[in-house]
Amino acid sequence: MTFTELWSQLEPIGRWAETGGYRRYSWTAADADCRAWFAEQARSRGLRLETDRNGNLWGWWGEPGPGAIVTGSHLDSVPDGGAFDGPLGIVSAFAAVDLLRERGAQPVKPIAVTAFVEEEGARFGVACLGSRLLTGVVDRSRALGLTDDSGVSYAQAMAAAGLDPDNVGADEGLVGNIGAFVELHVEQGRALEPLGHAVGIGESIWPHGRWRLDFTGVADHAGTALFADRKDPMLPYASTVLAARRIASERGALATFGKVIAEPGGANGVPAAVHAWLDARAAEEAVLRETVTTVSYEAEKASAEQGVSFSVRQESETPVVRFDQGLLNRISGVLGKAPVLPTGAGHDAGVLAARVPTAMLFVRNPTGVSHSPAEHADRADCEAGVRALAAVLEELACR
Ligand code: GLV
Ligand code: MN
Ligand code: MN
Repeated sequence: MTFTELWSQLEPIGRWAETGGYRRYSWTAADADCRAWFAEQARSRGLRLETDRNGNLWGWWGEPGPGAIVTGSHLDSVPDGGAFDGPLGIVSAFAAVDLLRERGAQPVKPIAVTAFVEEEGARFGVACLGSRLLTGVVDRSRALGLTDDSGVSYAQAMAAAGLDPDNVGADEGLVGNIGAFVELHVEQGRALEPLGHAVGIGESIWPHGRWRLDFTGVADHAGTALFADRKDPMLPYASTVLAARRIASERGALATFGKVIAEPGGANGVPAAVHAWLDARAAEEAVLRETVTTVSYEAEKASAEQGVSFSVRQESETPVVRFDQGLLNRISGVLGKAPVLPTGAGHDAGVLAARVPTAMLFVRNPTGVSHSPAEHADRADCEAGVRALAAVLEELACR
């Protein structure tokens, strides 16, 4: 099947008409439709479909076993995400399998196409939850107890989608069967455009994480409470946003508040509490730690000045990732002059890299915009990505 045919099947699922963005949250109806699409792609190609104990999907070409060459990404999205972040890697994986078969390639190792669950952490807060559970870097009881914004737990959401939460946990047998993992992904940032290349190779991922900041004040009436009497959590939150921008820029780091909830959320009231999520990233772990510590210190200070209480809690953290040099060299040998790029974006490949030789391919994104409906890759570049992935799979699985 061509890339365009595959792409157009998945395109309408979970798309929000008003924004043109995707809302494909884990264990929702849109996610179930994406998973059914994956299952159908595996079935129609004669790939053996397996759902692992954490709900990640695997489509096996050949008997599952040691030395498997695994490729894939994720189907879930951020709120109003773009079409490419995640799905491009899965569509390209199926298209690469088709291309290899057309060419009569004979794998001597099993190949698997995979879809990891809850990569964005958009519903339950912890990014790459499916690959973290698979590799055992997140505790199963912590994962099962995570809740979404409506108070539904991860265990309840999984069970409602027909999976057994009692099965959740590390799967050493499955991880032990992975000989190499290659994730193709839309480029996030725009390094490839000026270099004139459709496809790049991942070198490293910046260390990054998410922190939840809680500012708790006292609810009051917007029209009658004197400023002098207020304990308004919005004030320290607002100054923390500005401080984070300054603190991160001084260190060459990044800090973003993309999600904030004011409670109880009345337009004519001083809020009782403000909950905000800090996403912070830096090239070095020490710089990341220092950035977050300094932002937390400023938030604490600003809260104390307003009589507001403050607490901060880490929700997820990914250490610096450097992809396997041997695999990178081998892929460079296949892809010729493809540029080698670092990225500030997180990926399941970053989690798997701690356990198995892992690599990434990036497909040019002309504007660099991602986590937005405007995210884009030209069709010709996507097709170049499929050819590159097929060449890499052939090198790794057919020799
Ligand atoms: C995932 O896309 C992330 O970098 O947060
Ligand atoms: Mn993403
Ligand atoms: Mn992604």
